Amino acid sequence: MHYKLGLIGYPLGHSLSPWIHETFLRDAGLSGSYEKYEIAPEDSLKAMIQKFIETGIKGFNITVPYKETVIPYLDSIEDKASKMGAVNTVLIHEGKLKGYNTDGAGYVRSLITAFPEVEHDKDKRILLLGAGGAARGIYCALTEAGYRFIDIANRTLQSAENIKQLASECTTTTNLLTLAEAGHKASDYDVLIQTTSVGMEPNEDVSIINLDRLKIGAIASDIVYKPLDTKFLKDAKALGARIHHGHTMLLYQAQLAFEIWTGKRVPANQLALQMKKILEGAS
Ligand code: ATR
Repeated sequence: MHYKLGLIGYPLGHSLSPWIHETFLRDAGLSGSYEKYEIAPEDSLKAMIQKFIETGIKGFNITVPYKETVIPYLDSIEDKASKMGAVNTVLIHEGKLKGYNTDGAGYVRSLITAFPEVEHDKDKRILLLGAGGAARGIYCALTEAGYRFIDIANRTLQSAENIKQLASECTTTTNLLTLAEAGHKASDYDVLIQTTSVGMEPNEDVSIINLDRLKIGAIASDIVYKPLDTKFLKDAKALGARIHHGHTMLLYQAQLAFEIWTGKRVPANQLALQMKKILEGAS
């Protein structure tokens, strides 16, 4: 079988996904390719997807701005992606399209790979900073994995409230905080996850909250990977926290997508190191 894979989005720029997936294909001993398909907003997503099916594509990833708008063109969607209202991976099987979302689960996999102790301690106090699409996926995946205490701090509390609603059927307890309150209560948390664009290039000198009260040994995680060492992570490290870099979310969501397409789980540890070097060189 030849695995023809791809990525749709706009703009795509210097995406690392082709390199990641072509490495996975090589490491898994499979033949195939992974190409970028930039679809401009004025183009028809539906027509593009139809063309994909005709070329024999096996699966594709979806990034901004199509993660929600692709949903009407799918034949089915897994529960998790449906709950998140966003799809980042599509599998094409016998001409039918099924949507998945590996972003949140990829994030959780990246976190527990870096800090195995987190996997089994579901009582860790977790603080999610931000309440956008990324936070939504991560919150869903953390509640699904059974974490019991996940607070959300956001500039706009209504968005945090909307995310909290997703956990109405599970045992997770969630308090909502303003960003100022999150700074005051930073010492309450074992894991702090920064999911906003604050600190991303070109605004590298800002951190979403003041970390002065951070607990020594806490885990500070940032999903921003340009730059790799955000101000949030630099501040946290200086205060004795352990840090978790953003590129690993990208890598492990890709590993999960690759499993959906091929049924194979390819180790990603080496790739994580190579990716870090590439990003360090780029920033
Ligand atoms: P994504 O899908 O990448 O998560 P998003 O849905 O646009 O992106 O979400 C952006 C997040 O970053 C939100 O939590 C947003 O806060 P609001 O809900 O209040 O808009 C947060 N964010 C963006 N810029 C911010 C800033 N300058 N200060 C604080 N929060 C910010």
